[in-house]
Amino acid sequence: MKNLGYTDDFLLKQGNTFNLIKDIDDNSIQLIVTSPPYNIGKVYEKRQKLAEYLKAYADFAKELYKKIAERGHVCWEVGNYVEDGEAYPLDIFFYNIFKDAGFKLRNRIIWHFEHGLHASKRLSGRYETILWFSKSDNYTFNLDPIRVPSKYPGKRSFKGANKGLPSGNPLGKNPSDFWKIIESDWDKEIWEIPNVKANHPEKTIHPCQFPIELVQRCILALTNENDLVFDPFMGIGSSAIASLMHQRRFLGFELDKDYIKMSQDRIQKFQNGLLKIRPLGKPVYQPTGREKVSQVPTEWSKLCE
Ligand SMILES: C[S@@+](CC[C@H](N)C(=O)[O-])C[C@H]1O[C@@H](n2cnc3c(N)ncnc32)[C@H](O)[C@@H]1O
Repeated sequence: MKNLGYTDDFLLKQGNTFNLIKDIDDNSIQLIVTSPPYNIGKVYEKRQKLAEYLKAYADFAKELYKKIAERGHVCWEVGNYVEDGEAYPLDIFFYNIFKDAGFKLRNRIIWHFEHGLHASKRLSGRYETILWFSKSDNYTFNLDPIRVPSKYPGKRSFKGANKGLPSGNPLGKNPSDFWKIIESDWDKEIWEIPNVKANHPEKTIHPCQFPIELVQRCILALTNENDLVFDPFMGIGSSAIASLMHQRRFLGFELDKDYIKMSQDRIQKFQNGLLKIRPLGKPVYQPTGREKVSQVPTEWSKLCE
């Protein structure tokens, strides 16, 4: 990053990613983890025709390919673009863009969450996807740090040399390509403190921020300590915080100076131990059925008979 004058191992840079990318050293990045604008008219983007929007990313993906180290990866998180009520899952288009740039897909991860807008003319959307690509076949992959508890840890082999011995892994099982990471602790908050508004411990005013837990998984599995993590659409710095938590170097670009300022404030809070972070792997709250809001209202009980 000599051309950008970076001397630090940790840098947040305000500016346009499509221009700044050229100044990053080739083969220097171990992981790109990001969520680009979806072209759906959020405050930070200008809506374009879908083809126009995608065109800019074709060249961008080729640039990213040059910047990534031989054992490195991209985790590209997207949802749907919607035009005149018709849905266009963006990962379908981005798959081809990244494939054409030379990347190889390893998983299409489903990120499932429970809450969001209720659709009236189609089914409500409750997942987005993370396309995980690597640059080569010789890539970094650390499964142990992201293992999750086994469903049946007491299972034993019933034949062969290991007959009678535990058959699973004591560190847990592979988390699979279906990630249930909550966007909002709405459930728990509303049950425990009635009438408190939707609240995730990490929530800020940014309309589309990552849960830090989601980035942590990508970082732990796909990088090692001191590797460089890059987020070209950094928002309010969730990927920066996850990198700091796990002793990775970090580079982030963000167009909006207020988001840069918010990222810096969150990082400062994190360093002072004051940032509320939902712990990695904390189970998602399951209603027991005894809570008032999980019971059918008396006015409806006749209709439900
Ligand atoms: C989907 S949000 C990413 C949110 C982020 N994952 C987080 O946790 O905060 C996309 C971000 O990209 C920024 N952005 C949009 N176009 C950009 C560009 N050309 N260069 C740099 N940043 C851009 C937006 O301001 C927005 O904050």
